[in-house]
Amino acid sequence: SILIVDFGSQVTQLIARRVREAGVYSEIAPFSMAEEAFRRLKPKGIILSGSPAGVPEEGSPRAPEALFDSGLPILGICYGQQVMSHQLGGRVEPGKDGEWDGEFGRAFITITEECALFDGLWQIGERHQVWMSHGDKVTEFAPGFRIVAVSDGAPFAVIANEERRYYGTQFHPEVVHTPDGGKLLANFVRHVCGCSGDWTMAAYRDQKIADIRAQVGDGKVICGLSGGVDSAVAAVLIHEAIGDQLTCVFVDHGLLRLNERAHVEGLFRDHYNIPLVVVDAEQDFLTGLAGVTDPEAKRKFIGKTFIDVFDEEARRIGGADFLAQGTLYPDVIESVSFTGGPSVTIKSHHNVGGLPERMNMQLVEPLRELFKDEVRVLGRELGLPDVFVGRHPFPGPGLAIRIPGEVTKDKCDILRKADAVYLEEIRSAGLYDAIWQAFAVLLPVRSVGVMGDYRTYDYVCALRAVTSVDGMTADIYPFDAAFLSRVATRIVNEVQGINRVVYDYTSKPPGTIEWE
Ligand code: XMP
Repeated sequence: SILIVDFGSQVTQLIARRVREAGVYSEIAPFSMAEEAFRRLKPKGIILSGSPAGVPEEGSPRAPEALFDSGLPILGICYGQQVMSHQLGGRVEPGKDGEWDGEFGRAFITITEECALFDGLWQIGERHQVWMSHGDKVTEFAPGFRIVAVSDGAPFAVIANEERRYYGTQFHPEVVHTPDGGKLLANFVRHVCGCSGDWTMAAYRDQKIADIRAQVGDGKVICGLSGGVDSAVAAVLIHEAIGDQLTCVFVDHGLLRLNERAHVEGLFRDHYNIPLVVVDAEQDFLTGLAGVTDPEAKRKFIGKTFIDVFDEEARRIGGADFLAQGTLYPDVIESVSFTGGPSVTIKSHHNVGGLPERMNMQLVEPLRELFKDEVRVLGRELGLPDVFVGRHPFPGPGLAIRIPGEVTKDKCDILRKADAVYLEEIRSAGLYDAIWQAFAVLLPVRSVGVMGDYRTYDYVCALRAVTSVDGMTADIYPFDAAFLSRVATRIVNEVQGINRVVYDYTSKPPGTIEWE
């Protein structure tokens, strides 16, 4: 295994992810607890992460000396390279002296010497794209090191002490903007550290099952299911670990897609035999939403009511000590501010935060280190059906944010039908998996149409489909005209209340994926 020492970089989890992709188990420990983690884990190698701090700053973090005494290979990334250079007798200087104000973003390095990190990957004389983000730089390196790659801004882009197997990169190999970064990290963990590379998601599952058992003991856990992939994978994993000490709760807020509730019941109660309580709260939600048109007001009401309903149900079930959540790593980063300043709320997502504070239970979050696509792999590992694991994301506030203006039961029913037709066509055209998210929106606009000899005056339905890797940015899916025309015809013919269909051609940014 590999120990990753975290100095607080926002991309430390990406290092762990790349190491997992190389088939090697790793653990992240904050620098202050790294020595203890090192003794427990007995790793074959160590990676020092980046940091928002600067080595020359007073009080900035250091790596435990014991790591340098261990004789194990060490890779320092960005701040990790600098702190290693500093601790081994080199010099790091702040950048802001007028002639140097750092390197940020895409940069190119030139390979000047051979190095074990470059094996089978980079040759002397080649230039390669990397991603830099640093203000300080190493100005004098520690004894025993050589420069093996340079960049315009960082003469010490990569340094190596092959004898001690210490390496430092000024750039970030863990981010996608360093295209060969994953291979470089694989070289370190496999070739340099000698890890075998046969670790898989199956091992992650076993590890997490052991962790959950240790955390929960014979306590009782409640897990809210949303119908989405994350909470489903968390629930099935926890159920494998502790069986019927787990109870799942599914709140039907009346803003779900067609047959959603039956689908969840079929899968969890019937297929997995997981104790499941379904709360029918449609009335509470729709009554409270009457007259509400402001998008943030809708979200706030739904978020608060969801917590009320869930809390009440948890009390009724009684005796639960733990609350399970399908929190993913991106939820963790999005809910922490790294600049220290206030971040602007574009939309308040209700599923992260709120619930734990209110319920005063300990959290069980077995997916906290994973990214969405890794959760899908884990889901398959747990035997969740492909159609479920591959589902498009669905927002917590549900159809309410796909019905601009006032939300009513009638509108929800109309939208459910149109959405189902659209998704059915997407699936039968074999396009579902190529699309990040596709859904129908019911506009608060009526338009005039003609059907047979009659004039109609009905709602307009907008179709949305986007591609994306993480939901942060998105591009429209370019359906061909024949496909769109088939869907439009079916919706207008089959869904009473809609007489016109339009396609949303807006990317994110400037649009968002949802309409509200
Ligand atoms: P936007 O509309 O902000 O959406 O571009 C980005 C992604 O987040 C989903 N989304 C939500 N998910 N609760 C959720 O669980 C929410 O309140 C929420 N709002 C948006 C959206 O569906 C897309 O995948």
